[in-house]
This record gives sequence, C-alpha cells and structure tokens, in this order.
Amino acid sequence: PDLAVIVVAAGSGTRLGSPTPKAFVPLAGRPLLEHALTAVFRMRQPAQVVVVAPKAHADEAQAIARRVAGPLAGLVSVVPGGATRQESVVGGLAALADGIRTVLVHDAARALTPPALLDAVAAAVTESGNGIVPGLTVVDTIKRVTGDGAVLGTVDRSELSAVQTPQGFPREVLDAANRAYSGPGDTTDDAAIVAAAGHPVSVIAGDPLAFKITTPWDLRRAELLLGDTAS
Ligand code: CTP
Ligand code: MG
Repeated sequence: PDLAVIVVAAGSGTRLGSPTPKAFVPLAGRPLLEHALTAVFRMRQPAQVVVVAPKAHADEAQAIARRVAGPLAGLVSVVPGGATRQESVVGGLAALADGIRTVLVHDAARALTPPALLDAVAAAVTESGNGIVPGLTVVDTIKRVTGDGAVLGTVDRSELSAVQTPQGFPREVLDAANRAYSGPGDTTDDAAIVAAAGHPVSVIAGDPLAFKITTPWDLRRAELLLGDTAS
C-alpha cells in the first residue's frame, strides 16, 4: 500500500482514572484499541497499520491487531510508545515501509471513529497535498478568562474549529516537520507540528462520533452510543 495509519495507543489514561492503559480499557466488552482498529480495517484502501503501544502491552496489542486484521495481519506491526504523544508518533513514523506516501495519525482513544472519516481524510491529502484535519464547528460561546476567572472577552466562534483525528499528511511532510520541530514537547496535535514547519493544513468536516474518550463520562457516552446500557 502507499497509505499508512499510525494508531497511537501508548498513553496511560490519567484522566480516565483506570489502572489499565486507556487503549486496553473495555468498551462494550472489547478494548478501545480493538474498536479503533476495526474502523481502520474497514477503510476503502488497504493500509499499512502501525500500532504504537505501551511496552508492557505489546503482546496484548499484537493479539488485538491480529484478531481485527484477520487475513490482513501482514500489514500490521506494533512498536513501543514514548513518554509523550509526539514521541509515540515519531516511533510510528520510523516503522513505515518504503513505499508509503500518505500517513494518517489516529488516536486509539477515538474508538468510535467511522471508517468513512478515515477515507475522507486520506482522499483529501491525496487530492490537495496539504495536511488535513477533521474539525467540528464550536457550538458553545467561548470566553477568554484570566486565571482567577475574570472574563476578558468573547472569542469569535466563526474562526474556531474543534479538531479531531485522523490527521493526514504527505509522508515526507510529516517526517520533515517532526525532524525540524523544536517547540514544546507536550504538543498533542500533529497539524500544529506540520504548520510550524510552514506546510499548509486544511480542515475538513469531522464527525461527532470521532470524539476522544478522555474522561469516565466519555466512556459512558460511548457505551450508550453502542447500545450497551448494561455496563
Ligand atoms: N498517546 C500515546 N503516547 C503517549 C501519550 C498519548 O500514544 N505518550 C496516545 C493515547 O494512547 C491516545 C492519544 O495519544 O490514544 C491521545 O492522547 P490522550 O487522549 O491524552 O490519552 P492519554 O495520554 O492516555 O490520556 P491522559 O492524557 O488522560 O493521561
Ligand atoms: Mg494525554
């Protein structure tokens, strides 16, 4: 394939508060990573899939990936994650096959992301050559406030987009941007790294189902959306 998907699954899930790393927490009986990978393997185009997992969970990640990939298991590899999301992405980039020209970076925590969103991002990268991020319009009124709560003003909502993953890039652009990047080590947005390198990034329509499972409330919402009201 000339498309690859890096699924970052090496975070600990501090805000979820589970003892298990978040990607391995069950949602309706299957780990979040399994849900996310199921969508990846339902994409229109075959893709190389690199799962970035905590070192201690490499075997478990491998087993999940094999189970989901079935006959396409040869396209999947598991690599160990880093201390930050960006380090995990860089680890995934190092595992890409030579012929890969387009890369999607996707959070395992966005477990309910529909395959069509992955397809749309991949297609938009190929068509435009730009970085592509899915985003949703912001519905709430957003205030700028000081640390002690004083309101400074209202932000112009028409200029805002709440961005999701998968984020897609021409492979050489994402590689070069990560090599050149010297900003804060805790950045959680690949598009910001690519934009910092001077490459154009555009937003396409995101999907509400691509929300990130971050808190226990998000996990509950995902369960309800899957119709699993028992747990
Ligand atoms: N991630 C990763 N490596 C890290 C940190 C995060 O691969 N060192 C991945 C997570 O597994 C997740 C995605 O990046 O799929 C988005 O991160 P986030 O939702 O913040 O997950 P966690 O870092 O696990 O959660 P928290 O910040 O609450 O600890
Ligand atoms: Mg995190």
